[in-house]
Amino acid sequence: MTTPEKWGVVPHVLDLETSIIREILKLSSKPGVISFAGGLPAPESFPEDDLREATIRVYDKYHHQALQYSLSMGVREFREAIADYGRRRIPELRAENIIITSGSQQGLDLVGRAFLDPGDYVVCEAPTYVGALQAFNFYQARYATVGMDKEGMIVDEVEAAVKKHKPKFIYVVPNFQNPSGITMSLKRRLQLIDIANRYHLPIIDDNPYGDLRFEGEPVDSLRALGGDTVISLSTFSKICAPGFRIAWLIAPENMMGVFEKVKQCGDLHTSTFGQMVLLEYLLMDKLDDQIKSICKLYRPRRDLMLKTISEHFPSEVKVIKPNGGLFLWVTLPNGMSGKDLLPKAVDSKVAYVYGSPFFPNGGGEETLRLNFSNANDENIVEGIKRLGRIIKENMPQ
Ligand SMILES: Cc1ncc(COP(=O)(O)O)c(C=O)c1O
Repeated sequence: MTTPEKWGVVPHVLDLETSIIREILKLSSKPGVISFAGGLPAPESFPEDDLREATIRVYDKYHHQALQYSLSMGVREFREAIADYGRRRIPELRAENIIITSGSQQGLDLVGRAFLDPGDYVVCEAPTYVGALQAFNFYQARYATVGMDKEGMIVDEVEAAVKKHKPKFIYVVPNFQNPSGITMSLKRRLQLIDIANRYHLPIIDDNPYGDLRFEGEPVDSLRALGGDTVISLSTFSKICAPGFRIAWLIAPENMMGVFEKVKQCGDLHTSTFGQMVLLEYLLMDKLDDQIKSICKLYRPRRDLMLKTISEHFPSEVKVIKPNGGLFLWVTLPNGMSGKDLLPKAVDSKVAYVYGSPFFPNGGGEETLRLNFSNANDENIVEGIKRLGRIIKENMPQ
């Protein structure tokens, strides 16, 4: 019998860790477990009828072209339609600044391919999106982490990290961050852009949730504020349907050749057919209503989860109320571990993601992430009650 080692799979690939979230999802898929673990959008939010209509239009309008290879940068008309749509947030946006990617996860990989040599540093928030860590770990990145408060990344700490570690870029999730739900304030955004400009560093603005705002005014996007200092990632996953695996990366025009090359190495191009379906969907002009209806669905779920938490969790537990997105971020009392609590929670048929994997340099043991988008009211109430009971039973004396 051969083994990956005998066949010579490279050591750094053998060392890669599988996604902890996927491991927890396996646990939580046991029958009867109420799971707040995944980051899945609600399936009832998918605009199935409109997508069926868009698919028919694709066959009628583009025929074999929809089934053919297409450009690595993406279908031209699709990039134009995304630019038209995106200009409400980024007034200068043009199709020339857009490359279509197979999910934002691929966008993160392309950034890693383009910028990272083994041992290079990335400045990021702690906590940060675990999928970005997976993408950058493949390139053997190291991390200079910066803490967060209610205004997002504590940018005052960034300059010292930049001086010390000479990072290749600064990675942030500025809106309704996964996992913390926090949104970066305008002041911090401007401060971050100033540092990036002074040290000639790109900011990677990973923004899947920015449109899912339930209340309050949107904060200007990093790309709108910082222009070519910022590489932005947006996706159809959370505003339409993740199964398409279609997203877009916005970059300075003189970087597009680089991204085109690194994308070609991986998959030649993103699905032509999928791009055309979403092109027709965009032309139907329904995306704004779709986003509104998602917010209408998620907001009461967030509120119900918060209310049930306030009734059933001990008062020592702290929860951040996000103004949008998919997640609640919970801090347990000192001395409690989200990881140690999980098997007990799963025994009681409720699951979540514990927080420590979101901290690449360690820490966060007392934290956990709860997803509210993909649970119905009954499960939210029952699951939170179960979790409250487990927390109470395991409180330090
Ligand atoms: C912060 C962040 N970035 C990127 C992604 C990946 O999105 P996509 O489905 O477009 O690959 C996610 C998905 O949950 C995310 O939370």
